[in-house]
Amino acid sequence: MSSIPVDAETKVGAAPDLAAAARAQDLAVRLDGVTKRFGNTVALNDAWLQVRRGEFLTLLGPSGCGKTTMLNLVAGFLFPDNGEVFIDGALVTDVPTYEREIGIVFQNYALFPHMTVASNVGYGLKARGVAQREIAERVTEILAMMKLAGLEDRKPGQLSGGQQQRVALARALVIRPKVLLLDEPFSALDKNLRSAMQIEVKEIQRKLGVTTIFVTHDQSEALSLSDRIAVVSEGKIRQIGTPQEIYRRPANRFIASFIGEVSVLRARLERIEKSEAVVQVGAASITVPAGPLAGQSPGITVDLFVRPEQLCLASGDVALEGQVATTVYQGDHVDLYIDAPAAASTRILMRLPSHDRVPGAGATIGLAIGGHDATAFPAVES
Ligand SMILES: Nc1ncnc2c1ncn2[C@@H]1O[C@H](COP(=O)(O)OP(=O)(O)OP(=O)(O)O)[C@@H](O)[C@H]1O
Ligand SMILES: [Mg+2]
Repeated sequence: MSSIPVDAETKVGAAPDLAAAARAQDLAVRLDGVTKRFGNTVALNDAWLQVRRGEFLTLLGPSGCGKTTMLNLVAGFLFPDNGEVFIDGALVTDVPTYEREIGIVFQNYALFPHMTVASNVGYGLKARGVAQREIAERVTEILAMMKLAGLEDRKPGQLSGGQQQRVALARALVIRPKVLLLDEPFSALDKNLRSAMQIEVKEIQRKLGVTTIFVTHDQSEALSLSDRIAVVSEGKIRQIGTPQEIYRRPANRFIASFIGEVSVLRARLERIEKSEAVVQVGAASITVPAGPLAGQSPGITVDLFVRPEQLCLASGDVALEGQVATTVYQGDHVDLYIDAPAAASTRILMRLPSHDRVPGAGATIGLAIGGHDATAFPAVES
């Protein structure tokens, strides 16, 4: 999937052609036109999703956009008003949770407080009638993998937050699920523990090759962990692609603003040539993907979305000039907020390595735009 422009009505992830149908057998999860209402609230509105076998797919979107509802439909905790759910190619829309072979970890772990770590982890196997001896072996194996060996006899209350989270993961993985569902599993952890757990989960997911659907509204978490990201808003999937595709080729303004940091400049469309367009901003010509500008006429005003790392100090034929309003020291880099007449939104954000010579507040500076990650959309009145 690449830089296909997506509007609100496009069924991203739908499988209209034969090649896609052939690939269908490689799909671990498929949602076909799923709608879910709660009273007057439409939580999911004709959502289409295809998750490949073994991939780590993240559902990313703002609060209330329908992420948890989507997981609940895959898990069988909820049933859609319209549309179908498939797991491993089988129609499961009306199949209950316990027959779906799904591993789930929620934000608040939901461990059984009165049971030991070993019993918590073995619970799903016991419920499935697995022999005692095999349970013991599989629990030992997964606890070792999750670095929990030696804690078998503790109760959840005697563990740290990170250890509890690992127990929850071990419990979900020990049943060898067809799909692992993770709903904001790190949100209760502090920043350092969160980063450590992210790395561990990714390593274990790779090692086991388990198809994983991960929910977050944290875009940096999504960018760093995922094979692909599905961006959700208002009950629909708006774009699906690799982290690079989503960051570098956002399909619309919402995604360009939601993923990564961005400043918006007023620019002029010069020309469109096949897959690329050229826009003029100040004395600079910038190449952007043509998709979002398809059908637009040269000369119109466009909004140019640029990432902070693309801007650099320059003199001569600069893209824009402005005045440094504030500088914020961030350790390895410094963020500069710049007031500039060419800005379509508020201040322009640029980022310089902190060992560079950083202009102070009040300085007038010229900026050039480097790199290839700028995107332009037809301007909207602000
Ligand atoms: N049981 C319910 N009854 C009524 N409305 C619900 C119910 N569950 C979800 N909703 C509504 O459906 C919409 C989608 O909710 P959902 O929980 O899927 O969002 P989310 O993307 O997971 O948000 P968050 O990031 O805050 O967890 C919201 O408007 C929510 O208020
Ligand atoms: Mg949620």
